[in-house]
Amino acid sequence: MDKVKTAVVGCGAISDIYLQNLKNRFSIIDLAGCCDLDEQRCRAAAQKYGIAAMSVADILADESIRLVVNLTNPKAHYAVIRQLLEGGKNVYTEKVLSIELEQAEELVRLADAKGLYLGAAPDTFLGGAIQTARLAVDRGMIGKVTSCVAQNGRDYNMMGQLVPFIPQQGGGIGFDVGIYYITALVSILGPVRKVSGFLKYPTELRTYDQPNSPRFAQQYKVESETILAGTLQFDSGVIGSVQFNSECIFPEQPVVMLCGTEGVLYMADPNNFGGTVYYRAKGSNERIALPDAFGYTENSRGLGVAEMAWSMAAGRKGRANKEMAYHALEVLHGIARSDRTGGCYELKSTFERMPPLKSGYFPEYLAKDHLCVDPEAALT
Ligand SMILES: NC(=O)c1ccc[n+]([C@@H]2O[C@H](COP(=O)([O-])OP(=O)(O)OC[C@H]3O[C@@H](n4cnc5c(N)ncnc54)[C@H](O)[C@@H]3O)[C@@H](O)[C@H]2O)c1
Repeated sequence: MDKVKTAVVGCGAISDIYLQNLKNRFSIIDLAGCCDLDEQRCRAAAQKYGIAAMSVADILADESIRLVVNLTNPKAHYAVIRQLLEGGKNVYTEKVLSIELEQAEELVRLADAKGLYLGAAPDTFLGGAIQTARLAVDRGMIGKVTSCVAQNGRDYNMMGQLVPFIPQQGGGIGFDVGIYYITALVSILGPVRKVSGFLKYPTELRTYDQPNSPRFAQQYKVESETILAGTLQFDSGVIGSVQFNSECIFPEQPVVMLCGTEGVLYMADPNNFGGTVYYRAKGSNERIALPDAFGYTENSRGLGVAEMAWSMAAGRKGRANKEMAYHALEVLHGIARSDRTGGCYELKSTFERMPPLKSGYFPEYLAKDHLCVDPEAALT
């Protein structure tokens, strides 16, 4: 199988783990170069990983680069992705596809028109924990799934002072963090039909009060939501509740549950690749920890990129695809629209629920007897 020559745009906070994994873990990827508006950052990353320091123009001019990974800030996503697609590159982007739904729709259309792959994070749904939960549901362990709950609380009064994009549009807990939970739910349960909900936007100015903040004592305005709560009706009939609250405490206490006619699954935090999935059967008081069936329990960022590269090589649809990413984004925008209008929002998009990742997809797991499958065969 030919490797897929790949470049990365955006060498900020999340880029190091991507570059590390793309360079060392996934045999399908040939990491060629990286690029950032900040030339110093770009050179430092290029030097660390022995790859070329490039500009977007260099990447577009190099026809051998077939896949570009976009790790810029959400506000830059639309323009960067559009430029790369127009330049004929297959693109995998960090979440979210773009901040505005209309712009995300335009990107999906552009990729279709150009016949290019457009994949998107979060790829944590391909990690061991969510794939194990998916396996349990697919095998009927909890019977017919009837409802689900996903929630998390964080202290963004504190975290928002250390991570500059949190108070900005698109950086709030609903869109920036909720997308992991919505993606996990839809990847297991399929498309959503209708949503309703509420958001909270603070009106008061806040003051940086953390002594270690570079903006200590300055005032700032929070442009993003601090709470997003919604009710989801899935096509399958499952009813779900989601709640993301950044006016809460540290440490966070995520809860994700799938309730069925024969049992309950307590999922791990979809913000991570790993974690223990617990199962409780009908009539039992015991929570049983399910063994991980897949691997990829540590920080496996780039897994979605590698899966997309394998899909490109095999000429089939990727699992972390644009249709599911757009649908998950529309769920969040639908909740926001319901908050504004006071009514339910009916989803316009849908997506095809993709097959689960097969155990042993990637070569490093080939050594384990029970996971001994050919990586290509795992895509069938
Ligand atoms: N930081 C995290 O923990 C984290 C976790 C998961 C996902 N993400 C996602 O990863 C993405 C990047 O986040 P981050 O925290 O690394 O952001 P960051 O602000 O640290 O880095 C973004 C980088 O992109 C560069 N950039 C912006 N526009 C550019 C352009 N047009 N061309 C080239 N470079 C450009 C910036 O100079 C910056 O170095 C976001 O989509 C975010 O949602 C971040």
